[in-house]
Amino acid sequence: MNTQKQHLVIGSTGKTGSRVLKGLKALGFAPKGASRHGDVTFDWDNQTTWAAALNNIDAVYLTYYPDLAIPKAPEDISKFCALAKIKGVKHITLLSGRAEPAAQICENIIMQSGVSWTIIRASWFDQNFSEGLFRQFVIDGAIALPVSDVTEPFIDIDDIAEIAIASLTEQKHSGQLYEVTGPELISFADIADKFSKHLNRTVAFESISMVEFERRLKKSGVPQGAIEALTYLFGEVLDGRSESTTDGVERALGRPATSFDAYVQRNRQAFMEVA
Ligand SMILES: NC(=O)c1ccc[n+]([C@@H]2O[C@H](COP(=O)([O-])OP(=O)(O)OC[C@H]3O[C@@H](n4cnc5c(N)ncnc54)[C@H](OP(=O)(O)O)[C@@H]3O)[C@@H](O)[C@H]2O)c1
Repeated sequence: MNTQKQHLVIGSTGKTGSRVLKGLKALGFAPKGASRHGDVTFDWDNQTTWAAALNNIDAVYLTYYPDLAIPKAPEDISKFCALAKIKGVKHITLLSGRAEPAAQICENIIMQSGVSWTIIRASWFDQNFSEGLFRQFVIDGAIALPVSDVTEPFIDIDDIAEIAIASLTEQKHSGQLYEVTGPELISFADIADKFSKHLNRTVAFESISMVEFERRLKKSGVPQGAIEALTYLFGEVLDGRSESTTDGVERALGRPATSFDAYVQRNRQAFMEVA
């Protein structure tokens, strides 16, 4: 077993974290997975859990929850970085969000922490539709969201995980900010069309008001913090500012980013099951 480096994956039960944990294990490392319910207990809302999680850790994959845009994120990230440095952590890879000024504040904190860093600044995830809140919409055949015809270069998080793993295991990614997107701009109506085509059944898109969106989230029992992050993302971030693609995946991995069509085809099974 390769025990050269000890990695800590924060958010190890989440979308990208679970992939990074698995990928590091496949390479022969023995990473520790941390979250409120992970192997190592770590809670962003309980700082007394942080120090023990950082014992004997060389490199950290850092995902913040629910979003780097929430008001307390910069303070949490600052305190975490200071502690990580004291504990001897040598590298942090941060998962950040594209076109989010608040997330960019957190990126700067990492860059100035005095620890080696890689930033993965990502567009919206394809997997929000298969592993997140919107999966049920696809299963129900009705994607109802507070957006109109804005486009977004959705990214496959298998690409993000591959970059994160490379950054935690190869020196050449230190000091790199990878702004990563999928290969094409897609509207939410396009997404519904792509699901209809690949799943061979109708998935419709409906544009709803923010008030109606919030009402439906509350009714489904979504926690208030997550509702606030989502209304911020749909209300402010998704205003067209992210309507461009980047070469971040290619720069990091030397190959093109995965398309949304390839993602749906590969994950067809996720939309067949009854949730
Ligand atoms: N979704 C997107 O499209 C997108 C795009 C760009 C960037 N991002 C960024 O990606 C990050 C993760 O977002 P996500 O929606 O994909 O979530 P996620 O990683 O799928 O899931 C959340 C993870 O965080 C853990 N977690 C939840 N509350 C926690 C807490 N209080 N303390 C510690 N861990 C906690 C969860 O595990 P436990 O329940 O066990 O604690 C789980 O492992 C966010 O910072 C977001 O800004 C997301």
